[in-house]
Amino acid sequence: MDIPRTIEWVADTDAGRVPGHVRLIDQTHLPEALVMIDTVELDVLYEAIRMLRVRGAPAIGIAAAMGVAAAVQEDPATDTGSLLARAEAAADHLATSRPTAVNLFWALDRMRRVARAHAGLAPGAFRARLVAEAEAVRDEDAAMCRAIGEHGAGLLRDGMTVLTHCNAGSLATAEFGTALAPLYVAAERGLTLRVFADETRPLLQGSRLSAWELSEAGLDVTVICDNMAAQVMKEGRIDAVFVGADRIAANGDAANKIGTYALAVQARWHSVPFYVLAPTSTVDPDTPAGARIPIEERGADEIVCWGGRRTAPEGIPVYAPAFDVTPAELITAIVCERGVARPPFEPALSEFTTQAAREREEQRP
Ligand code: MRU
Repeated sequence: MDIPRTIEWVADTDAGRVPGHVRLIDQTHLPEALVMIDTVELDVLYEAIRMLRVRGAPAIGIAAAMGVAAAVQEDPATDTGSLLARAEAAADHLATSRPTAVNLFWALDRMRRVARAHAGLAPGAFRARLVAEAEAVRDEDAAMCRAIGEHGAGLLRDGMTVLTHCNAGSLATAEFGTALAPLYVAAERGLTLRVFADETRPLLQGSRLSAWELSEAGLDVTVICDNMAAQVMKEGRIDAVFVGADRIAANGDAANKIGTYALAVQARWHSVPFYVLAPTSTVDPDTPAGARIPIEERGADEIVCWGGRRTAPEGIPVYAPAFDVTPAELITAIVCERGVARPPFEPALSEFTTQAAREREEQRP
């Protein structure tokens, strides 16, 4: 199957008032159906992020950037001051959709800065500038993922088996993914690899999404329940663990889908290298250590309802953190588009974020 882009801006050809709209894969229907959402409505995009129709840290950032661009497209105002206020309000609203992935806040800050810097443009040009910036966020993410794939492929050898958790693939990014990108690059180079995908309770991003996109791409993928990972490592079947991240603190502590920390502990016990792969936009220099990363809590129904029936007694208390933090000391290396950081992580991560900020300053129109 030719998988469409996870998220993109589609230029409308009928030259109506709205010059384009957002198109994204509704990931809640996968793997049974490939359903697309086409919208220019901020509320639809907000709900899509909140309900994980679009999910994964980089894709959330792209959706948020496109949400700001969409908000000013759908606003009929004829003065740029009103459109700027609309962009700011949209960014404030989108910032409340999900708390952990720092890419969301990174992308919204970028859209706010560009909107303020171009408040002197005529309304049509202002709308077009925000669309261009949102598309740049998408395109740069695709390039960053490709570079992560190139760096990460250097960690792979023919015949290796990699365990991954949640989905940090194409569906979580503009293209290629982060944790899965090296697997795609290595496969392009002719390496034969095997992947074990953790099911990833409660929303099954591993079995629904990673297994789907890897098998569609022709890779050898086997699904296991989360509680089987230690046993599979003990059997000597896993050569490396590759995971993504939603936010990496300045010291290298990494937040990712709940269950990642347990995997890192198990990997250390079994002497399996544990790699975190993410773009620099996932590194948060303002968060010194993992304890300061806000962890999203989800609704009880995601834990105690399945396939339309309850899986726990009515009224039972539920605790549902969606992410956990893996301490830097359990991470073998952090792979960014700028290179492979080894412990101690702080100097290399600081260099990556400083370089990225400098480059953005230089490119600023
Ligand atoms: O709740 P989700 O599905 O948005 O969580 C996604 C993850 O935890 C991913 O591993 C992470 O965002 C990295 S995506 C490249």
